[in-house]
Amino acid sequence: MATILAIETSCDETAVAVLRVRDDHSRHELLASEVASQVAAHEKFGGIVPEVASRNHLIYAPQLLDRTTSAARIAVSQVDAFAATSGPGLASSLMIGASIAKGLAIGFGKPYLAINHLEGHLLSPFFGDADGDKQIKRNVSLIVSGGHTMSVLVGGLADYQLIGRTVDDAAGEAFDKVAKMLGLGYPGGPEIEKRAVKTAVRYLLPKIAGIPNESEGSRTRSLDHRGPKRDQAAYERSFAFAQDDKLLSDLCASFQQAVIDVLVTKTIAAGQKYRVDLITVSGGVSCNQELRRQLREACSRKGFEFKSAEPWLCTDNAAMIAFAALLRLQAGFQSKITEEIDPNLALV
Ligand code: KG4
Ligand code: ZN
Repeated sequence: MATILAIETSCDETAVAVLRVRDDHSRHELLASEVASQVAAHEKFGGIVPEVASRNHLIYAPQLLDRTTSAARIAVSQVDAFAATSGPGLASSLMIGASIAKGLAIGFGKPYLAINHLEGHLLSPFFGDADGDKQIKRNVSLIVSGGHTMSVLVGGLADYQLIGRTVDDAAGEAFDKVAKMLGLGYPGGPEIEKRAVKTAVRYLLPKIAGIPNESEGSRTRSLDHRGPKRDQAAYERSFAFAQDDKLLSDLCASFQQAVIDVLVTKTIAAGQKYRVDLITVSGGVSCNQELRRQLREACSRKGFEFKSAEPWLCTDNAAMIAFAALLRLQAGFQSKITEEIDPNLALV
């Protein structure tokens, strides 16, 4: 039996999880997973303020450690390895989780694992599968989060090849920016989805070819709908547009569909190009029910197996970091205690 404790503080969520695996690797058992959201603290700024995030991590992390180990009914001394997200993310946020995990690893003389946040997302669709790393089948993985939109050809654990990515806004970022322009709350993805389900797609927003730009193009065009910013009078007049509830919802549905169209088309094309049997999706935007439904349907039409992370595992959490760490530990990986955090850490 091996028990791992992971800490995730890459952005504005503080998260701690305890995951256990049996000696025969037959079953992963999530003993506890806690997330302290800082959404309220950042909402008034309309985005994440790094200084506020790191101060809050400092306050929440020790509390969460206590809460998570009590919920897991274990003492920290019973943990076999400590893991933390080492990047990508905000430097001042990453530092908090990594320092705590390293301190615990040193204090208890246990291994330390520095985990790439993107690997956490990428492996999350396999969470809970019976055979651990044996289950990381070759697949095309679509990671769609607040900071990243990327397609990865996965050969197995730690065998990743980047095959496509956005050159500007990540899908989640585009959702957040459009929501902000429309006067909706943060994070924007769930707000737009809530409105989108109430209505139908009525506008065909542009979809620029190439995995890159589509969400950016859609975002810009959504803004254009309200009138060019440089013409203040037109801009203000067009505000009436955003006050019209029905129109606002229609625009949300149309924007959401423009993003989904691109993600589905590109992902299926990548699956065909690289001749995989399996397509997976992860990251915060993969909470989106319509994206999941349309990607699942497209996969089934084209003969791909499809796996998505459960919604609670899609947005940032420490269970996915613990899972990646466990698979790596079982495969013989360990990090040096001197391993630094890296805000720009690449997956491959
Ligand atoms: O993976 P995540 O929690 O954090 C990062 O690693 O970035 O992703 C957060 C992003 C936010 O941009 C949020 O708007 C988006 O995921 N998101 C959604 C939905 N839920 C969260 N986007 C679309 N539809 C959703 N239901
Ligand atoms: Zn994330």
